[in-house]
Amino acid sequence: MKTILVLNIKGGVAKTTTACNLAYELARGYGPTLLCDADKQGNASRWAGCKDPYAPAALGQVLTGKKAIKSTMLYTKHEDLFVMSSNQSLFEANESLREDTAAPAWQTRIALAFANLEGACDWVVVDCPPDLDYSIVAALLAADLVIIPVTPDADAVDGLWDTFDQVDSASAANHKLRAMALWVRVPNAWTPPKTFNTQAVPWLKTRIRESAPVLRAKNVARPIREESPGCYAARDYKALAAEIREVLGRG
Ligand SMILES: Nc1ncnc2c1ncn2[C@@H]1O[C@H](COP(=O)(O)OP(=O)(O)OP(=O)(O)O)[C@@H](O)[C@H]1O
Ligand SMILES: [Mg+2]
Repeated sequence: MKTILVLNIKGGVAKTTTACNLAYELARGYGPTLLCDADKQGNASRWAGCKDPYAPAALGQVLTGKKAIKSTMLYTKHEDLFVMSSNQSLFEANESLREDTAAPAWQTRIALAFANLEGACDWVVVDCPPDLDYSIVAALLAADLVIIPVTPDADAVDGLWDTFDQVDSASAANHKLRAMALWVRVPNAWTPPKTFNTQAVPWLKTRIRESAPVLRAKNVARPIREESPGCYAARDYKALAAEIREVLGRG
């Protein structure tokens, strides 16, 4: 089983779009997949049709040691795609850990929980918030790969460097961890300007192109491939799943 975090501490750079559509493509082509919503906004949960304002956030339950991971997983309408749903209560779960710093058992809880999914899931894809709270610090200990989506603008490239630094610090405690950047929302046939100075970072070969149907698919909570199979982004997310399979090996 492989764990992938979609993380950039810059907001609005297509993290959720990438996490949801990558999870869908992995489930469709490469084995059972868990989409873990680690953002209190609950956007991935809404996309998966599983947002419940009254149920405690699944990751919060695991992080605070209140529930076993398998009892927090929900079926989605897509075959082989499961979700751990989230909402604002994830904020309280994270806050409750502030007092827990003397004996930080929470740090390893997510890694231990994901390890329990071996045999049940081939892939875990975590949709991260645009910041680093306790749940993300703990999830970094479980990750094989951090995908850092970057839109073609200077602020997003700044976010890339900051996120890379955070992953670098986490890799001292998780030796298998690596990070790769992903261009998202780029025009067709685009090349990054030299001023972005992005050579020092490993990039995924696939680029996700700007496509009008992406917003439409989000608003009706559908995978882009189901909403508009021929559009650039649908083809690119399919290619991304194939590349991830190649980069990480079997799930
Ligand atoms: N390839 C694309 N083409 C066109 N629009 C896109 C594409 N990818 C994402 N978008 C749009 O960009 C916006 C931001 O995307 P998304 O919500 O995935 O970002 P995010 O990084 O998860 O945001 P946040 O930091 O708030 O969690 C959305 O309106 C989405 O529809
Ligand atoms: Mg998001």
